[in-house]
Amino acid sequence: MDLPVDLDARGDRTSAIYRALLDAIRSGRLGVGDRLPPSRSLARDLAVARNTVATAYERLVAEGFLEARVGDGTYVAELAAPAPAPRHPGALDPRPGWTFRPLPVSGETEPPPYDFRVGIPDASLFPFDTWRRLVAAELRGGAHHPGTYAHPAGHPQLRGAIARYLSLGRGVAAEPDDVLVTHGTQQALDLIARVLIEPGDVVAVEDPGYPFARELFASYGARVVPVPVDGDGLVVDAVPDRARLVFTTPSHQFPTGPPLSLARRQALLEFANRHRVAVVEDDYDSEFRFTERPMETLHALDRHGRVVYVGTFSKSLIPALRSGYLVAPRSLRDALLGARQLADGYGAPAEQVALARFVADGMLGRHLRRALRAYAERRELVLDGIARLLPQLEVVPSAAGLHVAALFTTPVDDAAVAATALEHGIAVEALSSYAVSAPVSGLVFGYGATATQAVTPGLERLARLLGTGPATRPPRGRR
Ligand SMILES: Cc1ncc(COP(=O)(O)O)c(C=O)c1O
Repeated sequence: MDLPVDLDARGDRTSAIYRALLDAIRSGRLGVGDRLPPSRSLARDLAVARNTVATAYERLVAEGFLEARVGDGTYVAELAAPAPAPRHPGALDPRPGWTFRPLPVSGETEPPPYDFRVGIPDASLFPFDTWRRLVAAELRGGAHHPGTYAHPAGHPQLRGAIARYLSLGRGVAAEPDDVLVTHGTQQALDLIARVLIEPGDVVAVEDPGYPFARELFASYGARVVPVPVDGDGLVVDAVPDRARLVFTTPSHQFPTGPPLSLARRQALLEFANRHRVAVVEDDYDSEFRFTERPMETLHALDRHGRVVYVGTFSKSLIPALRSGYLVAPRSLRDALLGARQLADGYGAPAEQVALARFVADGMLGRHLRRALRAYAERRELVLDGIARLLPQLEVVPSAAGLHVAALFTTPVDDAAVAATALEHGIAVEALSSYAVSAPVSGLVFGYGATATQAVTPGLERLARLLGTGPATRPPRGRR
């Protein structure tokens, strides 16, 4: 197949192939019913790993553009008929190099019966009535000064509540003035990139790692360098000396799971100090911890003002709040506030005060205790199910969060496994879909979205698909 893919473009190779295929489908160059080449042969033509192509196929299958027919091949799906959008000569184009298109997000697809998608908290645990009351109270006439503009740092009440929450819960010593309230992690990363990254700067990211961070830094012109991870988290020795910024998830490496070991934390801070590197600590889901004592954050260990700490309410509450925060060294504070003002002015004050009350009045604490119980039970079921039913998988030890990863003891095409599982109503994610060049083969199981009682049946179904599960019926004559 003649597929023009710009593999030198910024961003990862899977995304480049994904975008090229999507473009071919949308433009009609690939028509409904056309058969795609097997991932192995397209990979050979493009000189990339087979997983890279398979993951791009898997994404397009998940979005309904392609259809995987078991034992046959992959076809352009019916739904994918291109919209008749005639392109006028001279139509506006993004600037050269802007290759970014929306990545698939979980809300776009129907939840499957067995839902192990990653990064989705259980919205049914969120106290919507309380939330509605709190927001409604802040929207009463006179509650605020809606005719004026507000400070880009966020409402002082919320900054105070977050500073106390972080000092008590995470050992992050922050004054209210150190906290900048953001629209989630994503905006925090955007502000950091605006202030720190120049085109061509090297940004080190974990591989496998968080695609939304990778793509964001690349969109500012950074040269994003994937750095391997192992059972102790980011391999600090492999971070290039010339890095300007290192993005890491030390509490719960995303997506493989282990915490960054204490020795690596110290090595990273020492490296950052020696080479004047900024370290972005993404502490996205450490509220859900399944061991006694958490490790100290990089921020708490940092003596030289190198760490920007980023947190979110997307996992501890729900992503739809679009609420997060960053705590930056004082040397960056004004620049970040300026960036926030230029980006979108400031956040919504009524919701910020509602959230401040939710945090300060103990409602967040109550919610977290309840959610932790539910997630702990599901996590146990996932770990138990993998151990009993899926001997070809070995769980990567971790201590926190809303998902676990497991590696195939003998590497297989994990993207194909995930695609087949999805056809059978099981959403589970291929570890390789998060990788740039790391040769990983495994599955990632989220347990935020699934009902507790669906966990074991889902794993049993997956095990049957992979040929290791319990028989549907006990064999005749034996009990
Ligand atoms: C590694 C990581 N960081 C942060 C987030 C949360 O992002 P946001 O706060 O923008 O919703 C996620 C969500 O999946 C994540 O996986």
